[in-house]
Amino acid sequence: MTAATAQACANIALVKYWGKRDTALNLPAQGSLSLTLDALRTTTTVQFDERLRADSLFLDGKSATTSRLSPWLDIVRERAGIATFASVDSKNDFPTSSGLASSASAYAALAVAATSAAGLSLTRTELSELARRGSGSAARSLFGGFAIWHRGERADGKDSIAEELVEGRNWPVRMVIAVVGGGKKKSVSSRDAMGHCAATSPLYQAWLASVPPDLRAARDAIANRDLEALGAVTQGSAMAMHAAALASRPPVRYWQPATLRCLDAVENLATAGIRAYPTMDAGPHVKVLTTEADSDAVVAALTEIDQVGQVIVSKAGPGAQNISESP
Ligand code: DP6
Repeated sequence: MTAATAQACANIALVKYWGKRDTALNLPAQGSLSLTLDALRTTTTVQFDERLRADSLFLDGKSATTSRLSPWLDIVRERAGIATFASVDSKNDFPTSSGLASSASAYAALAVAATSAAGLSLTRTELSELARRGSGSAARSLFGGFAIWHRGERADGKDSIAEELVEGRNWPVRMVIAVVGGGKKKSVSSRDAMGHCAATSPLYQAWLASVPPDLRAARDAIANRDLEALGAVTQGSAMAMHAAALASRPPVRYWQPATLRCLDAVENLATAGIRAYPTMDAGPHVKVLTTEADSDAVVAALTEIDQVGQVIVSKAGPGAQNISESP
């Protein structure tokens, strides 16, 4: 069977996904909305090979465990009617497991590469459903620009798919990412943390209730190209998610001292009239939604902060794509 190579960009949620309605099918408790980022890319090659006795995974050139990958590859094998093992070679151009959403680009690239290598031809919507089975946020990385991942109502998850709302080039915003703490491995994965939060946080139900109105407001803001309105939702959704996580018992706290310094800097920028709206995921990094014109000021302010390493500026990226050379 032929090999296939795909590329996918990570995405940052503006309205967060935090909690599941079904863990086996990886169905979210609520919908979410994101911006796909050009600067954070994963390139993955998949080859099904009759000679292999097990699946293998190389992540940034190092052999890695297939405990999460193999059950996902089983879904692809079942659909393709094959029993062949696969070798997977995946490279990120950004720090892995640092809260920069590597599983999103990973499973989006995998969905495109693995189905192509297995001879399947799926629509982008079907690919988003398949990517979701590997990691929820990956459903959104099938699409470029602003994407929404629907909660769906069905028990089988067939309607929990993502779709593109607005292409990046139709609203050229920027995301500035301050990598806090040197991109070291995070302590609790988003998967474990959201499960623990759902089970123990007295704020979890309130968090869930906050999502549908935020999604509506974000969709309206995007339709109207209203960055101030989108920024307010972006900041509010991240703070509500982290508030619910912080109230878990024991708490889940991703914030480091430098995280607060970044948030302070963004607040000062906003007071000075710069359009800058922060968000954070399952890590200490601060991501700032801004405009092309204001991004230099945001970069300058974040670069000054001790414990901020890299500062990455990204425009909107494309959806996952097959980049295999034709045979
Ligand atoms: C904080 O997609 O990593 O980044 O579905 O369990 O793989 P699993 O979770 P994952 O969670 C992402 C959480 C988040 C918010 C978001 O991207 O919406």
